[in-house]
Amino acid sequence: MSIRFDGRVAIVTGAGGGLGRCYALELARRGAKVVVNDLGGAIDGTSGSATMAETVAKEITAAGGVAVANHDSVTDRAAAQRMVDDAVSRFGSLDIVVNNAGILRDKTFAKLELDDFQKVVDVHLMGSVNMTKAAFPVMREKGYGRIVLTTSSSGLYGNFGQTNYAAAKLGVVGFMNTLKLEGAKYGIKVNCVAPTAATRMTEGLWPPEVLDAVAPEKVVPAVVYLCSENCPTGHIIEAGGTYFARVAIVEARGVVLGPQASAEDVAARYDEIADLSGARTFDSGLEVATNILKALSTAAV
Ligand code: NAI
Repeated sequence: MSIRFDGRVAIVTGAGGGLGRCYALELARRGAKVVVNDLGGAIDGTSGSATMAETVAKEITAAGGVAVANHDSVTDRAAAQRMVDDAVSRFGSLDIVVNNAGILRDKTFAKLELDDFQKVVDVHLMGSVNMTKAAFPVMREKGYGRIVLTTSSSGLYGNFGQTNYAAAKLGVVGFMNTLKLEGAKYGIKVNCVAPTAATRMTEGLWPPEVLDAVAPEKVVPAVVYLCSENCPTGHIIEAGGTYFARVAIVEARGVVLGPQASAEDVAARYDEIADLSGARTFDSGLEVATNILKALSTAAV
């Protein structure tokens, strides 16, 4: 069944280039009216210009789609609110927000200035929060919304020199894990994409012969799916090249050590405690607490 977005309105942040541009073009090609947001700055988030967002918005309209450019920063709460208000007043609604804007300020933790930690958290985590905070009431009111957040393998697994970026990128996963619960009864689904693509952000990482294989367009199917009516909620999809895989936080089956449990017992049975065979996912912290109580009562029998 083909996925269409006729009558839907989407905001894509950081859509003036790289992955965001590809998402915006495809959402528009499939019928969505798109707000193309991009600060138009350098990779470290400094400076800004309207050109990047405007170029992509023009590309969409030239192809017969509907788009408007916005060059505000997602770190500006008032601007995030204005972006949502403008989308609603211009296009009548807001159904989809793809939080994609991002910057890099890589350095090992020992050498990293905390201002550079803060700035990266401000853009990736707080930028997503600002946009979502403005969009959520509109979606709640209409009983429908799709929010896509952008995480990264750096946050999910770690990457040397990226403590700031990794913390921000796993922060959005925590944000999703609770927002999916709070959005469920209003028809709001929240998911993450963990992309891998050759963009200015990953320049120099890939040898020239694989650039086509990991072109940003290859990530688009995952994001289009996560914007669609029948997407899951609370999922993370890793997407790079034409590789797609769900990523999940899992918990080992665990061991009940009993009321006298000591640090020595933990050490002695650590292989069992850490054994991930038969590991499970949970949908909420409440489910984890219930599982612990069940394990305790089963062990007591
Ligand atoms: P990119 O640098 O081409 O795109 C990021 C865009 O965000 C830029 O156009 C930039 O101007 C815009 N931007 C930066 N700060 C902004 C702000 N405050 N407000 C509005 N726009 C702002 O890089 P790419 O690769 O397309 O990255 C897109 C997203 O994917 C980012 O969140 C990035 O962290 C994430 N990502 C990318 C990976 C890759 O392999 N390319 C890997 C994992 C995650």
